[in-house]
Amino acid sequence: MARDKTSLKLPKENTEAADFLPLLGTDYVELYVGNAKQAAHYYMSAWGFQPLAYAGLETGLKDKVSYVVQQDKIRLVLTSPLKSGGDINKHIDAHGDGVKVIALWVDDARDSYVETMKRGAESYMEPRALKDDNGEVVLSGIHTYGETVHVFVERKKYSGVFMPGFKEWNPFYKPSDVGLKYIDHMVGNVGWNEMDKWCQFYAKVMGFAQLVSFDDKDISTEYTALMSKVMSNGNGRIKFPINEPADGRKKSQIEEYIEFYNGAGVQHMALATDNIIETVTALKNRGVEFLSVPASYYENVLDRVGSIDEDLLPLSDLGILIDRDDEGYLLQIFTKPILDRPTMFIEIIQRKGAKSFGKGNFKALFEAIEREQASRGTL
Ligand SMILES: [Fe+2]
Repeated sequence: MARDKTSLKLPKENTEAADFLPLLGTDYVELYVGNAKQAAHYYMSAWGFQPLAYAGLETGLKDKVSYVVQQDKIRLVLTSPLKSGGDINKHIDAHGDGVKVIALWVDDARDSYVETMKRGAESYMEPRALKDDNGEVVLSGIHTYGETVHVFVERKKYSGVFMPGFKEWNPFYKPSDVGLKYIDHMVGNVGWNEMDKWCQFYAKVMGFAQLVSFDDKDISTEYTALMSKVMSNGNGRIKFPINEPADGRKKSQIEEYIEFYNGAGVQHMALATDNIIETVTALKNRGVEFLSVPASYYENVLDRVGSIDEDLLPLSDLGILIDRDDEGYLLQIFTKPILDRPTMFIEIIQRKGAKSFGKGNFKALFEAIEREQASRGTL
């Protein structure tokens, strides 16, 4: 397989991407989960999301329930089936809890559907207008890797809390936020030799261009390896790294994911903060568990990344990783899997000029993941 040269020089605006959609941002991420009520409580109590909207039996739904929670620009929809045997049940049976929908905010959902279908997309949902007293939301959708889908959301004529069919959800319990701002990127794991296929899908069907790639020399440890390419839309608001496994001496984290998720799917969401020390301190206090790196990581990290604004001590106490590219540096940390299956996790990222994804941390990070895999007997 051809391996592209790694480049950390990222264009300010990705001029190669033909932004015919264009995408205004991530509208929401919907997870299919076994128990939406308890999942919503977890994202509120542990992650500081705020209650926003609800749909279920009380709003006229017969077979499913959804809770919508929000923190700044990040909106999660947590959906569970109320009856047996439906599509949501099958999704949970196959994958466990996981991301079903990465919804993208557009100006024109009908046009987004027509344009992506014309370029070879597989239809998930034909355009449909949902209406209530607050106006109209237009949705359409296409398939991407695995059973994951993209829903295009047009909401310029809507003033309600989320979308028609949902009512405001305003419980007494509203824990304080933890300073999470927006989704920086969302990473997909795909199977052996499928990375290029899905990068081409984002290029051809959605007009994305490739930002950067890593080969297995960048991302390998003694035991495991993977390859990764980052696809971005034209205005850079949507970034989708795509990973595939590469040969290593033992089972890679991507293979472990594919095995437990039963195929391709979302591996992690990276959530941005303006103050990673405060955010991660709050998350740890609320019980969120992060991967730890050995103390030796901090002994020479400043030789690698140069001087930074933060004191090193709180970063090393919390296990926050540091990397630098031509444009600045970034701080990042990764949770352990947040679900029962060792599938999805969350990254917290603070960018201080850097536009890259933490390549310099991959080795330390993957060795930490391997320690966890070894404890699960899946290395
Ligand atoms: Fe990431």
